[in-house]
Amino acid sequence: MQDVDSRLPMILLQDQYGRTKRKLRISVTDRCNFKCVYCMPEHPEWMNKKDLLGFESLFYFCDFMVQSGIENIRITGGEPLMRHGIVHFIQDLQSLRSKGLKRISMTTNAHYLAKYAHDLKRAGLDDLNISLDSLDPAQFFQLTQKNIQPVLEGIAAAKQAGLPFKINTVLIKGKNESQILALVHWAKAQSVPLRFIEFMPLDGDQHWTQADVVSEQDILDVLATQFQIQELKQAHEPARLYRLNGTYDVGIISTITHSFCGECDRIRLTAQGELYNCLFATQGLKLKPILDQLVQQNDQEVHQHLQQRLSEQTTAYIWRKAKGFHSIDRQHRKISMHMIGG
Ligand code: GTP
Ligand code: 5AD
Ligand code: SF4
Repeated sequence: MQDVDSRLPMILLQDQYGRTKRKLRISVTDRCNFKCVYCMPEHPEWMNKKDLLGFESLFYFCDFMVQSGIENIRITGGEPLMRHGIVHFIQDLQSLRSKGLKRISMTTNAHYLAKYAHDLKRAGLDDLNISLDSLDPAQFFQLTQKNIQPVLEGIAAAKQAGLPFKINTVLIKGKNESQILALVHWAKAQSVPLRFIEFMPLDGDQHWTQADVVSEQDILDVLATQFQIQELKQAHEPARLYRLNGTYDVGIISTITHSFCGECDRIRLTAQGELYNCLFATQGLKLKPILDQLVQQNDQEVHQHLQQRLSEQTTAYIWRKAKGFHSIDRQHRKISMHMIGG
């Protein structure tokens, strides 16, 4: 296999609004063993396994992007622990640290985490984001079609392995907003970081309506019944942080009511090797064919030519990134959350 030729011009990670990309999110599978209503369609049609981007091509792309300025890689799905070979891939990514990679993270539903936590730590994963939408077993089952117990065991295993993690909770009106205080007390008691997420129009069956959204203000109103709240200065991340009773910080990711698109530093790759500028983008850039050619090509000159093409296409695509969530016609989005991994 040929390496990325760092003598050639790399891509420019800047879009037309001056935003530089530092975070690459790679979905490694669209498959998931959960059926969260805010993400999965009722009847998912899984990507064909032979159409998935292989690890060799994926590694080439990560190498290329890190040499272009990407500092954080987040591995997502579907459920990333359902892709065979993922631990090994994380091990391979370690070699990119000397080229500028600072953090390797994963977003998971934690169902298989008890089995993998120690291996992931050993492979060099820095941290995890774990989805947990309810602490009530019956409600959890209703939301995901799976039991909560393996998830709680996964969380315990992450702690035991010394893998730092944050909890993500998507709130949906009439479904789980009753869990706001319970989750805060649970997370606060164990000093676990918790972030509530406003439900975004990315569900597989496109049933989302504005009326389903539990807004940042709704969440703050509930918290105010039991806590004194102090807003902290927003760091460069999607969540806004609030300090409760001067002791515990809770995050709220509010794309719907306070979009952070003006500072978006992310770019995403689907499991089929298609690059997306935005969760709501209507057009991706198919990179699998050229990446597959690049890793198979032994002729130096042809390889250089292909890499030049990859560079030009990717630079042009990133440059065209739209201003953000509110400027995109979401009726025509091509992907749902299970294909792009949040
Ligand atoms: P860190 O900041 O590194 O913890 O990552 P993260 O918060 O981006 O990761 P995670 O996968 O946990 O994402 C949490 C939620 O934030 C996702 O489920 C999305 O709902 C939302 N989110 C993440 N990235 C974006 C983005 O670029 N745009 C929007 N609108 N929402 C995003
Ligand atoms: N709106 C907001 N967040 C979502 N997630 C999945 N679908 C949605 C949606 N429609 C979140 C999950 C997980 C992350 C990958 O994305 O909670 O934490
Ligand atoms: Fe970035 Fe699009 Fe998310 Fe806005 S909606 S923060 S532009 S990915």
